[in-house]
Amino acid sequence: MLDVYLDEDHAARELRADVRAGLTADPRWTPPKWFYDARGSELFEEITGLPEYYPTRTERAILDERAAEIARITEAKTLIELGSGSSAKTRLLLDALLGHGTLGAFVPLDVSASALTAAVESLSAAYPGLSVRGVVGDMTRHLRHLPDGDNRLVAFLGGTIGNLTPGERAAFLASVRSVLHEGEWLLLGADLVKDPAVLLPAYDDAAGVTAAFNRNVLSVMNRELGADFDPASFQHVAHWDPEREWIEMRLRSLRDQQVSIPALSLDVAFAAGAELRTEISAKFRREGLAAELAAAGFSARHWWTDPQGWFSVTLAQAGPPL
Ligand code: SAH
Ligand code: AVI
Repeated sequence: MLDVYLDEDHAARELRADVRAGLTADPRWTPPKWFYDARGSELFEEITGLPEYYPTRTERAILDERAAEIARITEAKTLIELGSGSSAKTRLLLDALLGHGTLGAFVPLDVSASALTAAVESLSAAYPGLSVRGVVGDMTRHLRHLPDGDNRLVAFLGGTIGNLTPGERAAFLASVRSVLHEGEWLLLGADLVKDPAVLLPAYDDAAGVTAAFNRNVLSVMNRELGADFDPASFQHVAHWDPEREWIEMRLRSLRDQQVSIPALSLDVAFAAGAELRTEISAKFRREGLAAELAAAGFSARHWWTDPQGWFSVTLAQAGPPL
């Protein structure tokens, strides 16, 4: 079953507002949520299997090791997943919570209706006794539509927290806290600061899948706004910002060009070398993450990482330190 809070009209209006704001700003940017039309969601799934893209397999290994412990600690009755995508890794949590005997419902939420539809169909078939209700929505705006309950566990995996700016992160974590009762849980997957020699290839793979994912935002603007971006005339760029400790994905114009966006009655000039920022992917440190969680009203109870210290999974509880 799917509940839709972000229908096509609504999404089209938001896309127009975001693109107008981002392409008339200096520096230019587009929000990463517009990567994820059906093609973008497929490309992301392809990225998760690339040899250079360590986050997915590393987080899966942590969850595999800790899922039973998470089930014992939380005894969650409802599992909510934000930015759920295919929910592939989430099956480890579902298996553990069902094995523990507490779980009755799974509620994945995503902006991508195509990814969510496929996930809900496949999970409903795989877990016939479980209530699976998908929510098509924006996790930064539609959390109030999530089901109330007691002993809910909100999973936010994959490192998607890093795709929010620090200000957006603070507002988002506070809004997650505001829909939870004291004592309920947040399971947060976050990528960690590491050698740029490991980070950069993860965002600029040899097969060019990340480049195609990055350029997909141009195809989304072409289709939805009638724009005439020529994706081939933009180079994929992955840049590590050591001060802000984030990767920036950018699209760099390979020539002087003028792009027309009829739905906005807007023409945008790109000089050769001009860049559009399409995503940040922040990398975290333990203390910083715990402080951000505390500022939002969560208390980090458990911190798990892999042997190389590349990725982290934090189990936090709504409320003050014990
Ligand atoms: N959690 C999955 C998918 C990560 S990809 C994993 O760990 O592999 C990021 C997902 O977040 C995509 O499915 C994308 O559609 C979704 N997403 C991005 N911005 C969003 C937003 N503002 N609200 C809801 N979902 C969003
Ligand atoms: C979804 N998110 C955590 C991914 C990331 O690593 O920031 C999106 C992505 N961008 C490029 N590759 C993957």
